[in-house]
Amino acid sequence: MTEVRVIGRDGAERMIEADDGSALMDSLRDAGTGVEGTCGGACACGTCHVYIDAAWAARLPARSEDEQMMLDAIGELVEVRATSRLSCQIRVEPGASGLALEIGPVP
Ligand code: FES
Repeated sequence: MTEVRVIGRDGAERMIEADDGSALMDSLRDAGTGVEGTCGGACACGTCHVYIDAAWAARLPARSEDEQMMLDAIGELVEVRATSRLSCQIRVEPGASGLALEIGPVP
């Protein structure tokens, strides 16, 4: 398990436990953070949009082409930042304990 610091859309901060090796979206959804993940992690809905804390953003693998395309698409409707990621595309790594993020707006 990896601890993740989450700021909700209401501004409230909480810690959740994320399953190592799983998609971050699954743990965010299951913890009731407001992440829906309606496409099941297929990089096709944008409802798992999060803003990664700047200090952590550079430590994550780069966006894939598919993730970038989806972020470009939702960027027509909501604010996409340099630190925006689709949490379904982020694999939880044991070394990521303390990862911090804010639940992003969704289309
Ligand atoms: S769950 Fe649909 S894009 Fe991430």
